[in-house]
Amino acid sequence: MAGQIPQRFIDDLLARVDVVDIVGERVQLKKAGRNHAGLCPFHQEKTPSFTVSADKQFYHCFGCGAHGNALRFLMEYDNLPFPEAVEQLASRLGLEVPREGADDPRAQARERKRQEGVNLLELSASFFRERLKMPEGQGARHYLAERGLSPEIQAAFGIGYAPDEWESLKRHLSARDIPEAVQIEYGLLVHREESGRTYDRFRDRVIFPIRDVRGRTIAFGGRVLGDAKPKYLNSPETPVFHKGRELYGLFEARQANTRLERLVIVEGYMDVVALAQFGIRNAVATLGTSTSEDHLSRLFRMVDEVVFCFDGDRAGRQAANRALEVVLPLMIDGRQARFLFLPEGEDPDTLVRREGPEAFVDRITCASPLSEFLFDQAARGRDLARIEDRERYASQVLAAIGELPEGLLKSLMLNELSRRTGVERLRFEALMARAEGGAGQPAEAEAASVVSAMPSAVKAAGTRPDRMPLGLVARILQLLVHEPILVERLPEADDWYPEGDPDVPLCREVVRLLRAGRYRSGQVLLAHFHGSDQGQRLAALVKREMLIPRDARAQELDGLVEHFRRHQRRPSCQERIDALLAKQHSGERLSPEERQRLMTLLAELGS
Ligand code: UTP
Ligand code: MN
Repeated sequence: MAGQIPQRFIDDLLARVDVVDIVGERVQLKKAGRNHAGLCPFHQEKTPSFTVSADKQFYHCFGCGAHGNALRFLMEYDNLPFPEAVEQLASRLGLEVPREGADDPRAQARERKRQEGVNLLELSASFFRERLKMPEGQGARHYLAERGLSPEIQAAFGIGYAPDEWESLKRHLSARDIPEAVQIEYGLLVHREESGRTYDRFRDRVIFPIRDVRGRTIAFGGRVLGDAKPKYLNSPETPVFHKGRELYGLFEARQANTRLERLVIVEGYMDVVALAQFGIRNAVATLGTSTSEDHLSRLFRMVDEVVFCFDGDRAGRQAANRALEVVLPLMIDGRQARFLFLPEGEDPDTLVRREGPEAFVDRITCASPLSEFLFDQAARGRDLARIEDRERYASQVLAAIGELPEGLLKSLMLNELSRRTGVERLRFEALMARAEGGAGQPAEAEAASVVSAMPSAVKAAGTRPDRMPLGLVARILQLLVHEPILVERLPEADDWYPEGDPDVPLCREVVRLLRAGRYRSGQVLLAHFHGSDQGQRLAALVKREMLIPRDARAQELDGLVEHFRRHQRRPSCQERIDALLAKQHSGERLSPEERQRLMTLLAELGS
């Protein structure tokens, strides 16, 4: 455990930085009366509704309700966990973040190591950049020119060259007192077990530094100058580099665009830099892996629209199908995903060079929306004049719709499916409920589709059993951390907590602290628990997307409390439901009467 950051320090820090500076470095602000105003970085807008107050040291968006202090802004905008946001503010002021219990030697050692890693990677990146400029870098310079990359773009992406030697980086780093063990740990040196020999991992390659959202180098990719294999070599997983999570070019895209609205996901390093060379500076690449949920949730925090770019061949189609599966559950209203297929044999790099940037941008603009792609994909190889094919077509689309979160898109898709197949929408809804039931959690899915009167949180918890729905008390916690003021709506007496929910003790504690008036913001509340299990739980809840619009949150909270209350008044009703559900779970079929009773009971519970 890293040790808690003392509250004193956080308060002091907030008193010494100016939120206008912090925000102003990332968002273009204009003075407007006592405040500053600009376009909100947290939602799409054309006219500014985002204000920053120097007096209050807060930002607030009248459009989407985003608000908070300097720390909150860094957490949201730079996608940083709380302690790192504190670190960043502190480093601006040249302060070291104190940790309670920081004399714990283990914590100290860990911190030293983290620092070591950061330094070493930055040192290596500048080493590679230097080498590119030297005589030995001539071949690489020639190669890069050949591929049409200007010195400006090379500089923007920090491209470098690893010399054709076994130990040049090793010598460079060792001369700066970086132990070989650390160089190995961060993937710069390869260690041969048999001989005990160590040598540079990257040799005679063009080097692409991979940076995190803050621009710190966390890994490298290296391309051979010719046709040797492997074409690309990447850093292995290290303490700071997790391949399945990082995207190449994200930092550079954000550097180049003050207002990013859409990101294009391509396959390779060269695609990203070639597009940038042609002025298309919003492309990112996954690092030789397929797009993961981690990637996408990260991107959707920054933009509302992602465009997937695939090769036009079979493999491309398959990759698109995988991407579709991953993106479906993330498609809350307001987000867009589109699918772009390139002509066979082309990648964005070759295509943009052949067709020019305008044509490529047109392709992006015309990429199929998710809905269209989904219907097209299901229709492929099927003759929709045939009933059997139509049935399979409908099932495939329906299965995908079932993965969508509740919302307009889901509803519109059902309408569209109904229109395209001539089958009533109600039939599809019933089928969907049954299909979800077949996936192993019959009771919950069925409940979700029949109980329309329950609070929305209860419904949400029921529809996606495999995605670890939030417990109901966790929902309350999440609401409170996002909006502490809501605590005022909770009943005075604390008799409403349900029994047996693991989050109850934490919730009581949070409510107590908020009531005592010691904490007004979620961040400070988080800081209070920082370093403990409870802190981790809260941090996890904060990170989860808040799907409930701001103006509906109070109602949601009331609904939840009301739900618990009712629940308590009728324990026998709940017990009867539990018994029926348990029976169904055990694999036994419920009789029609029992099913009817279950539905009535559930409806009663929710009414
Ligand atoms: P491609 O083989 O499509 O290469 O690999 P590319 O991006 O078109 O590269 P150029 O144009 O020939 O230079 C796409 C991505 O897959 C990963 C890399 O991330 C690469 O950018 N890859 C590919 C590897 O990690 N190792 C390899 O050997 C090849
Ligand atoms: Mn290529």
